[in-house]
Amino acid sequence: MQFSAKVSDISKQRAACSVISADAKNGLSPSGKNLDQLAKGTIGKILKRGDLGVKPGSTQLIDLLDGPSERVLVVRTGKGYISQAEFRKLASASAAVVKKFKDATSYLCELEVKGADKAWQAQQIALATGLATYRFTRCLTDAKPYPLTKFTLHAIDRKQLKTIQKGMEIGAGQALGSNVARELGDLPGNICTPNYLAAQARTLAKKHTKLSTTVLDEKKMKALGMGALLSVAKGSDQPPALIAMNYKGGKTSEKPIVLVGKGITFDSGGISIKPGQAMDEMKYDMGGAASVFGVMNALVELQPSINVVGLVAAAENMPSGRASKPGDIVTSMSGKTIEILNTDAEGRLVLCDALTYASKYKPRAVIDIATLTGACVIALGHHATGLYANNEELAQDLLKAGETSGDRAWQMPLWDEYQPALDSNFADMQNIGGRDAGSVTAACFLSRFAEEYTWAHMDIAGSAWKSGAAKGATGRPVPLLVEYLLGK
Ligand code: BES
Ligand code: MN
Ligand code: ZN
Repeated sequence: MQFSAKVSDISKQRAACSVISADAKNGLSPSGKNLDQLAKGTIGKILKRGDLGVKPGSTQLIDLLDGPSERVLVVRTGKGYISQAEFRKLASASAAVVKKFKDATSYLCELEVKGADKAWQAQQIALATGLATYRFTRCLTDAKPYPLTKFTLHAIDRKQLKTIQKGMEIGAGQALGSNVARELGDLPGNICTPNYLAAQARTLAKKHTKLSTTVLDEKKMKALGMGALLSVAKGSDQPPALIAMNYKGGKTSEKPIVLVGKGITFDSGGISIKPGQAMDEMKYDMGGAASVFGVMNALVELQPSINVVGLVAAAENMPSGRASKPGDIVTSMSGKTIEILNTDAEGRLVLCDALTYASKYKPRAVIDIATLTGACVIALGHHATGLYANNEELAQDLLKAGETSGDRAWQMPLWDEYQPALDSNFADMQNIGGRDAGSVTAACFLSRFAEEYTWAHMDIAGSAWKSGAAKGATGRPVPLLVEYLLGK
């Protein structure tokens, strides 16, 4: 999709659809008034009939026969000032309609939003619009992409134009990255294998000079002593891959931020096999990896002056005669031994070796992203990503990036009191902590492999995809991560 910003006049600007707003008393936004005048008061008269819902975010599409706009979409705003949450609602409600037309111009940046500037407004509109146009078509014979290919944001003058352009580019980059993550997530496990992910990384590196890729195969991982990661892949016919994507936008001397994604392309549970209910959704167990791919795609698009390494620990977790068994003990790359009490707690096993490997980049900070625990969904539901960190400044930065982008996280405790749950009689630790605080003890496990650097862990088990009729990947937490990285 092509996003652009323009100082335009609605009475002259051609569009398949123009987006304006009406407040609680049917008061039109400035461009709305302008268009209504051109339409000889038709818009006002139609609104008086009362078909437009009273709730903020309600929409009414009006066909226009004369003038440069073929249609006008009126979006309802609430009483009094517009909050950031309400503006997000308006942005996604209008996006859900305009995605059906081949082009659209939005005049919603004319609204005043409490505590937000025009760049933020433009960002939110671009993000919502980009997200709305995602459609999974790869495996469907007749599905076509949504028609919208050209989206314009209105600015009142040249000075505002610059600000709007900047915000819009960020939002568009966040949407692009999210949609890359969604596509990878929605792909089935028989297509999206560890090898498939490695091929995606290579393709991306071929297209962009600032990005390079290396892939460690089983043999190299063995040589490095990655016994934990390899123990997960052992039961599968699909070989594992440790993928590194290196984005160099900053000075060579500048330390990188390293992202580490859990890339279990299918999690059957292994010998500790999962129940059948909704097992198909375990194709999303590479959501962390997908978000790393999403971020790397956004970075090559936005070209910020920073260094970022995206690591993906990719493997398939399957039962077989070669699979790990409960009670097996493995040695991780760090040298620490792990008793595998449950083969379904495999995410932490692949991540711990990737976290140890991350040290070689002398990172400024490491952030891992993982669909790690069902317990996180019990704790936070589907709205918030669970956030853990061994450094409070990093935690606050990430929380703030979540608030700004609208892709929110909630901080959870990483207290020493939880650590003994991982004690084992036979190894340095066991891979499960018991029923209590399952998301916390999983984070505690990871923390033992991240002692040497500033680190955060994001449990996206609840936020990475939606179940039910609207089943599909969300692309989270790409907006949060891109927001965070652009602020570095
Ligand atoms: N990928 C799952 C976590 C998960 C489950 C995410 C359901 C989203 C929905 C992970 O590998 C897993 O199976 N975790 C176990 C850990 C347990 C065995 C300690 C879980 O959460 O049940
Ligand atoms: Mn599992
Ligand atoms: Zn898993």
